This record gives sequence, structure tokens and C-alpha cells, in this order.
Amino acid sequence: MRIILLGPPGAGKGTQAKFISEKFGIPHISTGDIFMRNISEGTELGRKAKNYIDQGLLVPDEVTIDLVMNRLEQNDVKEGYLLDGFPRTVHQGDVLCRMISESGQMLDAALLIDVPSSYIKERMPGRRICKFCGSSYHLQFNPPDEEGLCDHCGHELVQRRDDHVEAVEERLKVYEEQTMPLIDYFEKKKLLVRIDGTREIEEVTREIVEKLRALEKNE
Ligand code: AP5
Ligand code: MG
Repeated sequence: MRIILLGPPGAGKGTQAKFISEKFGIPHISTGDIFMRNISEGTELGRKAKNYIDQGLLVPDEVTIDLVMNRLEQNDVKEGYLLDGFPRTVHQGDVLCRMISESGQMLDAALLIDVPSSYIKERMPGRRICKFCGSSYHLQFNPPDEEGLCDHCGHELVQRRDDHVEAVEERLKVYEEQTMPLIDYFEKKKLLVRIDGTREIEEVTREIVEKLRALEKNE
């Protein structure tokens, strides 16, 4: 399956992506995670992305599109993938859809995890991520088994660099202005699948899996 995950910052894209990727056996590609890893490793890509990310702005299309197009040429994504956080502009959507149709493939769904901004502002201060593997936790809604440590790899949990109030406000604004037009875009292509992301994590997962299984049956 080829799936896109849409939704505001903090909607739960990364949280749900882990389950979807495992259940459907498709690689999870998060542009945000790739940028964050490159920033902590001090690479050229990280240097290009850092200032934008710290301010809550989008990394320019020319950097992001090249990154994703190169990633989608690798062997492990031949049978499918889950894109988390890409596309985020209509231009990115156009490039992706063109690439998919030119290679004779199909996109199965654009999953929108819908969460109003009032929820997001409450959720963000409690998020903690693993410094090493990027897994996402929440102090209240999704705590790790052992306080401050990642369940998967045991490394330290930290607050994300762009989870401070100003950057969250900016990310929500950028989402409304630049990413929300993609909802209409994929609705017109009859690919949009809406998920209510305000419910508990397990309930959201259940609905996503049900809807994706139904799509698989119709293929
Ligand atoms: P990215 O990392 O994609 O950031 P984002 O879209 O802001 O999304 P987040 O990762 O913050 O949230 P999420 O939806 O994954 O939520 P999570 O599962 O962690 O991008 C970062 C930056 O990179 C961007 O700002 C931009 O600069 C750049 N970038 C990335 N892609 C780009 C692109 N295509 N073009 C240009 N620039 C790009 O959950 C959040 C919290 O809520 C966690 O604590 C979690 O435990 C908790 N939670 C999850 N689900 C629930 C629930 N149902 N109930 C209660 N709590 C929940
Ligand atoms: Mg994420």
C-alpha cells in the first residue's frame, strides 16, 4: 500500500505511523524525523533545515522534494510506503502524484488525522521523544514504562526542539495556510480518509486499521 498521513502538528501522525507500518509491513518515512536526525548529526541537510524548523516554518520545497524523491527510489519502498508529513504543500502533492502515476503505481489513501488546534496546544507541552530512535511519548496520554526512558531502545526522552509555544503557534498557522489545501486536493481525487484524532490512541489505531483493511479488500 502507498499511504500519506496528513494532519496538524501533534495530531498523532508519528504515533499512528508506527502501528500502521508494522501491521501493513510498509516502511515509515517521516520527513520531520529525517530532518531532526540530520540536525542532531550536524549534516549538510541538517544545517539547511535547522533555522526553518526551529521557527516552525516549512523547509523549502526544493530541499524537501529532492529528499523524498531520492528516498522513494530505494528498493525497500517498491511494494509500498507510509509517508508521514509529506506532502505538506500543494506543489509537493503535485510532484508526488506525478511521480507515482509516471511509474505506473497508485496511491491508496491520504489519511487525515483530524484534531482541532485547541487540543494540539494542550497536547504539545507533554510530548517527549526518544533522542535516539525518535519514538513519541506523552507524559499523560502515552507514558513510557520507565519514566524518562524509551520503551524501544532505553535511551533518554527529551522535549522536541520545535515544541516550544512560539514554534507550535507558527506550525499551526503554516498548517492552515499551506497544508490544509491538500485536504480538498485529495478529496477531489477521492483518496481522502478522515479519522477523528481526538479519541484515545488505541481507538484511533483501530479505526485506521479497519479503514485500510477495507481499502485493501477493494483493491
Ligand atoms: P514533523 O516532525 O512532521 O512535525 P509536525 O507535522 O509538526 O508533526 P509532529 O511530528 O509534531 O506531530 P505528530 O502528528 O507526528 O504527532 P505525534 O504522534 O508525535 O515536521 C517537523 C518540521 O520539519 C516541520 O515543522 C517542518 O519545518 C519540517 N518538515 C517536515 N516535513 C516537511 C515537508 N514535507 N515540507 C517542508 N518542511 C517539512 O503525537 C504528538 C503528541 O501527542 C505525543 O506526545 C503523543 O504521545 C500524543 N498523542 C498522539 N495521539 C494521541 C491521542 N490520540 N490522544 C492523546 N495524545 C496523543
Ligand atoms: Mg511526527
